[in-house]
Amino acid sequence: MKDKLKKLKENFQKDFVKISDLENLNNLEINYLGRKAGQLTNILRGLKDLSVEEKKEVGQLANQIKNEIIEKIEEAKNNFSGQSMVGEIDVTLPGIPVACGHLHLVTQAIREITDIFEGIGFGVRRYPEVEWDYYAFEALNMPPDHPARDEWETFFIDNKPVGPKGQRVLTPHTSSGQVREMEKGKLPIRMMNISKCYRRQIDVSHAPMFHQFEGLLIDENVTIAHLKGTLDFFAKQFFGPERKARIRPFHFKFTEPSFEVDISCGLCGGKGCKMCKAGWLELGGAGMVHPNVLKAGGLDPKKYSGFAFGWGVERTYMMKAGLSIPDIRMLYQNDLRFLNQF
Ligand code: DAH
Repeated sequence: MKDKLKKLKENFQKDFVKISDLENLNNLEINYLGRKAGQLTNILRGLKDLSVEEKKEVGQLANQIKNEIIEKIEEAKNNFSGQSMVGEIDVTLPGIPVACGHLHLVTQAIREITDIFEGIGFGVRRYPEVEWDYYAFEALNMPPDHPARDEWETFFIDNKPVGPKGQRVLTPHTSSGQVREMEKGKLPIRMMNISKCYRRQIDVSHAPMFHQFEGLLIDENVTIAHLKGTLDFFAKQFFGPERKARIRPFHFKFTEPSFEVDISCGLCGGKGCKMCKAGWLELGGAGMVHPNVLKAGGLDPKKYSGFAFGWGVERTYMMKAGLSIPDIRMLYQNDLRFLNQF
């Protein structure tokens, strides 16, 4: 019986090398391993007539040969299945490109703005989005019931006021980080707070959730000239070397004096066109930190002075030349047809 098995193995090897397609291979498999009349199956059937001793020896050999045959056939099946597809798929065709996303426009803006200010030593900080009334208003020289608060159409959290810090609000501006930073007691301060803000306003130029970036610098002998230099640096880095910044008198309770910052119009180069106000575009607020705000932060206004500015990220980004977004809310509708353009 052993001889029969050896012969079978030899025959299989001879037959196997002749195989050239999947059909032949299937026939070969049936011929050797087929349950009804496979050659190996037939030999194995004879095992029962052998003595226990022989059964053991021959059985082992038969199993070994069976496994070898199965392995070879499986391997060949894999090879043939690859080949058989050649006729159906043109493997030389270009592949289907995998869609690759990119950062959201606002994230790109945040990174760009952060990079510019980090380059001149402003460190990025984070403060709570759900904030105490105290940091959002009172510490910024706007006591309860002050009419100036009306300009910030605030969302209030439905809780009872807690102690002197008052009610909780969704922070309506990044200025709420100013006194928090001063309270840390580390001077000089050169911080950049860039984060989400919330106001009850919704129309083409307002989304109830938007972003602001706030710069705060406090040290001894800080003057308006430092503010002006910083604004000009930002305008040139962000909008382009030909752009200029100017400051105009304005009013905020937390700065004295206060300014509105304008950037020269990128379209007309400052001459005046229908996009701008006589050559200038409004960017946002700025000013010298009010002595009462310094006091609220535990700093001596006789020793320290500082400047601050706070602008909308979306608005600032939209003012970059060539970018005209008709409705600010489009930024948050997640329509890929819109977002893919940037
Ligand atoms: N927080 C002000 C707003 O949301 C903007 C602002 C004005 C920020 C003057 C400042 C500043 O830091 O000095 O309208």
